[in-house]
Amino acid sequence: MVSFRRALLNWYADAKRDLPWRRTRDPYAIWVSEIMLQQTRVAAAVPFYERFMARFPTVEALAAAPEAHVLAHWAGLGYYSRARNLHQAAKSLLQSHCAESPCVESYCGASFSLRGALAPPDTLTTLRALPGIGDYTAAAIGSIAFGLPVAAVDGNLLRVIARLDNDPSDIGHPQTRARFTGRAQDLLDPKHPGEFNQAMMELGATICVPKTPRCGECPVAKYCQARAAGRESELPVKGRMQAKVDIEVTVLVVQKGGKVLLRQRADDAGQMAGFWELPDSSLSNAVIGRELGELRHAITHHHYRYRVHLGHWSGRAFRPLAWKKPEEVLLTTAAKKALRLLQV
Ligand code: ADE
Repeated sequence: MVSFRRALLNWYADAKRDLPWRRTRDPYAIWVSEIMLQQTRVAAAVPFYERFMARFPTVEALAAAPEAHVLAHWAGLGYYSRARNLHQAAKSLLQSHCAESPCVESYCGASFSLRGALAPPDTLTTLRALPGIGDYTAAAIGSIAFGLPVAAVDGNLLRVIARLDNDPSDIGHPQTRARFTGRAQDLLDPKHPGEFNQAMMELGATICVPKTPRCGECPVAKYCQARAAGRESELPVKGRMQAKVDIEVTVLVVQKGGKVLLRQRADDAGQMAGFWELPDSSLSNAVIGRELGELRHAITHHHYRYRVHLGHWSGRAFRPLAWKKPEEVLLTTAAKKALRLLQV
């Protein structure tokens, strides 16, 4: 165990990528990075993280910002409920601070005079209670920002554990996850939990990759039973993969002046609530015109095929429809892609 930890941590000290959230110990910055990294690859997250931190450098700055500004800085990263939850959590941290400490009025609320004094909470239970923070993210923030000795177990880590132990159990199964989590917890270096978790993440992201792992470069290859058995490419086993769902939609680009007819997604529309999209061709006032092209867009296991047509519209547009300049509203990614077809 000790030699495994040492080999991994020594390798990480040399090989780790220089990432902006690794240059700080600010718990708020680490929190933001972990939320971005929930569904976004490291390379894609970096420029968004830098812009977001420049605009919202503290919990207070984030709490004081209107939601539309927060979403605008998230635009392009997808999974917008992450931004909404982060914003809500920042607001509730500010609110509980104000409720707990006797505040001079000008000190709190939209004021910036706290100067970064607010931080996410420093226990697993309180972190877990914030919206948008599950077990993995609580463990990642807790260990990296506060040195809590908890393993952060995501899909990458399950793969690493399955290979280390040459264990063909189905990682889609809750019992396997629980067992692998226990194993990850045993492996964790309690003296350097944040570094250890990040080293395991780095191993999973750069060496112990899904299809063809780079075992020749692996710092812990000699501890890997799958490698010894020549089975590293067959692991992990994922039994209950969610089936892909194909969905076909015809959407319309209807123009008037510099404006386009758009439809705002309802507040309860999940991830993209409040965003604007193109109307589909089933609307009764719509007439389908020439085809502009086709595009594909996948959200988790839903695979959309959009046929994009020019359209004509008779009569007035009522909510949730409205005539909008596309550059002035938050568009869904699919709508952005579809409107680009106008420029082809
Ligand atoms: N994925 C999730 N958290 C990460 C981190 N802190 N560094 C790199 N990749 C990650």
